[in-house]
Amino acid sequence: MAKNGIGQSISNFISGLSSALSFGGESVVGLSIGSSSIKLVELKKSGKAWKLLHFGMVQLPEDAIINREIVNQIAIIESIKTLVNQLKLKTKNVCISLSGTSLIIKRMVVEVKNVRELQDSVFWEAEQYIPFDISEVVMDYQVLSRSKDYKTDVLLVAVKRSVLESYMNCVQEAGLKAKIVDIDFFALQNCFEANYPTSSAEAVAVVDIGASAVKTAVCYAGIPVFTKDSAVGGKNLTSEIQRNLNLSYVDAESLKVGGGQAIPQEVSDLMHIMGENLATEVKRSIDFYNASSTGAPVSYILLTGGSSKIPGLSKLVEDATGLPTQIANPFNSISYDPAVFTQDYLSAVAPIAAVPLGLALRAGAK
Ligand SMILES: Nc1ncnc2c1ncn2[C@@H]1O[C@H](COP(=O)(O)OP(=O)(O)OP(=O)(O)O)[C@@H](O)[C@H]1O
Ligand SMILES: [Mg+2]
Repeated sequence: MAKNGIGQSISNFISGLSSALSFGGESVVGLSIGSSSIKLVELKKSGKAWKLLHFGMVQLPEDAIINREIVNQIAIIESIKTLVNQLKLKTKNVCISLSGTSLIIKRMVVEVKNVRELQDSVFWEAEQYIPFDISEVVMDYQVLSRSKDYKTDVLLVAVKRSVLESYMNCVQEAGLKAKIVDIDFFALQNCFEANYPTSSAEAVAVVDIGASAVKTAVCYAGIPVFTKDSAVGGKNLTSEIQRNLNLSYVDAESLKVGGGQAIPQEVSDLMHIMGENLATEVKRSIDFYNASSTGAPVSYILLTGGSSKIPGLSKLVEDATGLPTQIANPFNSISYDPAVFTQDYLSAVAPIAAVPLGLALRAGAK
């Protein structure tokens, strides 16, 4: 998946780039445009391992991204520029990702004798799964396996062209080049594979709990065999705090994340309720996977995303699902200079670094 990923092909399709993207000896950059903040990870090869050069994050205004579509382009462009300046980033080529309802991911089986007919066949079959006008989408697919009787298992990705272009345009306006457009699920899979060597017979659920979504990718034998995107996340909790305590978005957000101040009991109670809701959502995803898949049962859950910091969430997820659960560390296998990054800093940013790190690794995949 990492080598010939769909994201790369989507990017190729749109901008006609060569499939052999070469970053040479340069650093590689993953840029995650989330609905609450933009995160950037820059890595460089150090021997056989990847070394962290930079990590940065810029908070977005409340309504810059709504339903994962960019509403305030200027805020996105200026935030990317701020990050680039803060980190003194030299590399222009970045890997970005998309998520949300404008994205369709579908695993399907097509039967074609001649591989040259595969693309036509996949795109023909795909139309029935795409709830948009087919002229408005960009499609690509990845072959997962092909049997002797010509049955080909493929993973289809389709995205609304307008959404793809709005993300790419913002990156370009900020002075960078989105050389690869991936999707959050594949970034999570990449991040997981790099940091958690797991037997290929084991299925692991990587769950990213961000500001607007719970994204579950069940990774099995090197493939995200199951993905689910539920539109619930940290912003729901911020809204609840706003409403109950009669606060602005910014004040509610800062109260929620602590920021050195004690969290009032009322906020703690709301957090616990939200934690239970999120745990139920994770359970729903796992149940869905179990019901719809013949793959291996999930052996453990890794949580990522800023909202995985809700106190006690791992335990709540563990109780709801009955599966061992822990917060993922995307820096497990990444080296770094202790004079630049402290252990405490990396632990604090670890949950929000999984997607941008997976994207940087994707950019660096040869
Ligand atoms: N200490 C904390 N306790 C609770 N929530 C937190 C904490 N720190 C961050 N969050 C929440 O995490 C969310 C941000 O996480 P993240 O950066 O993963 O989201 P995003 O990538 O912007 O969103 P999405 O991927 O859903 O579009 C915010 O809702 C924020 O309030
Ligand atoms: Mg995110």
